[in-house]
Amino acid sequence: MIVAAGGKQYDGGEETRLRISVIGTGYVGLVTGACLAEIGHEVVCTDNDGSKIRTLEAGGVPIYEPGLDKIIARARKENRLRFCAKPADAVPGGDAIFICVGTPPLPNGDADLSAIDHVARMVASEATSAKLVIEKSTVPARTGHELKRALSVYARRPGVSLRVASNPEFLREGTAVEDFLHPDRIVVGVEDESSERQLYDIYRPVLEQKFNCPVHAGTCPDGPAPKWLVTTINSAELIKHASNSFLALKVSYANMVADLAEKLGADIDEVTRAMGMDPRIGPSFLNAGLGFGGFCLPKDLQAFVRLAERCGVDFSMLRAAEKINKHRIDRFFDKIREALWVVRDKPVCVLGLAFKPHTDDVRFAPAIDLIHRLMEEGAQVRAYDPQAMEKARAILPGVEYSDSAYSAAKGCEALVIATEWPEFRSLDWERIRAGMVRPLVLDARNLLSPGEMRSRGFEYRSFGRPDVVAETQIA
Ligand code: UGA
Repeated sequence: MIVAAGGKQYDGGEETRLRISVIGTGYVGLVTGACLAEIGHEVVCTDNDGSKIRTLEAGGVPIYEPGLDKIIARARKENRLRFCAKPADAVPGGDAIFICVGTPPLPNGDADLSAIDHVARMVASEATSAKLVIEKSTVPARTGHELKRALSVYARRPGVSLRVASNPEFLREGTAVEDFLHPDRIVVGVEDESSERQLYDIYRPVLEQKFNCPVHAGTCPDGPAPKWLVTTINSAELIKHASNSFLALKVSYANMVADLAEKLGADIDEVTRAMGMDPRIGPSFLNAGLGFGGFCLPKDLQAFVRLAERCGVDFSMLRAAEKINKHRIDRFFDKIREALWVVRDKPVCVLGLAFKPHTDDVRFAPAIDLIHRLMEEGAQVRAYDPQAMEKARAILPGVEYSDSAYSAAKGCEALVIATEWPEFRSLDWERIRAGMVRPLVLDARNLLSPGEMRSRGFEYRSFGRPDVVAETQIA
């Protein structure tokens, strides 16, 4: 008898190597496929973007995600992971099929579910045996029911029974492998016992923390076992949207408190530190700054608002969070203008392009919006990011990219920190100062300490903390 972390009991308990197909090799699909192979399953990953599959087959990894390259290489070597260029060919062999395709925002804020619909039709027409179809992509509540309907319309053949489950992901870019292998909870939305059991078997090594951990030198760290939560499909879908939207609310709340702290002469770091000590609030997602970005929080917030509107529920607090976030760039730009006076023709160094540290993802990155704004105002932008320069180059051609923070800062009249890469904290700031025309740092992520920057001889501005302003002396 196996007792799941959530207290539920299951018969059996032998290790099972399952055949799994993963459709979509973006951040979620690739991490999911690689980690499922890592914990012992036989996985095929596919995508309709042939260039991604070619890169993967040639031993490359199309995204930067710490640890992912190693587990992909190991799983391929041990024949547990393969890539397939034709999505239709990946369907027949999988007992479980994870749908990990994109659900980008439509112009009205709704999630575009056309890729899910396309996969449903493809799975239904290619399946030759019973399968569990698992939606992993972030989707609005009730998508599972539509998926089930679509599958039943297109798969009317004897022996082909297609069950549907929802299994939302809570992977953060930058720590996605760690999050998959050591999650705090695994949520499965199911309609029947056999789907629940099949998902438990898929996640058994993770739930029991029994695998050769690639992140922690072979052994899983001691800690609470992941919680196993079985819900309805609607609840599972709602859990995901409600979680991401709550994180977005928390960030916008901290940003508003920072603005108030600035006006009142308080220090946001002192305020959020004390707030976070209350276990009902918690310390994370209270970092004030340029706001939230990336491909998840902004789009999920919008889609959640639209879902609420369609249900006749007034969720305008989420609209407020979105508006606050959009204004972060304006707020920061006011600081730039106040410090630089005229922005036109001034060389400005921007450190950080990714939407957050430890990723090369620049989608909906506040740093990118900020650079667009600086360029519109006529600044000469020089930029450096430890990982995201290649992706930024494709969307921001007018920027001068440097191979280090030092060369980016050289000759600049201001240095902006737009992404909180920890390595920026330990730069040789004396060297940076010596190379700059004016030692002015505008820290949009509150990464550095005003006191330390003062003692290093910088003018320094951030969010919700005292400015360090130079005395103006005319000889
Ligand atoms: C987010 C969620 O955290 C994951 O749980 C979820 O699985 C994922 O979306 C998804 O839906 O796929 P992610 O987009 O990787 O993960 O990024 P977060 O770590 O949530 O950060 C989002 C943004 O908020 C970043 O731009 C970050 O800089 C910003 N942020 C975060 C703040 O401005 N302040 C904070 O205190 C925390």
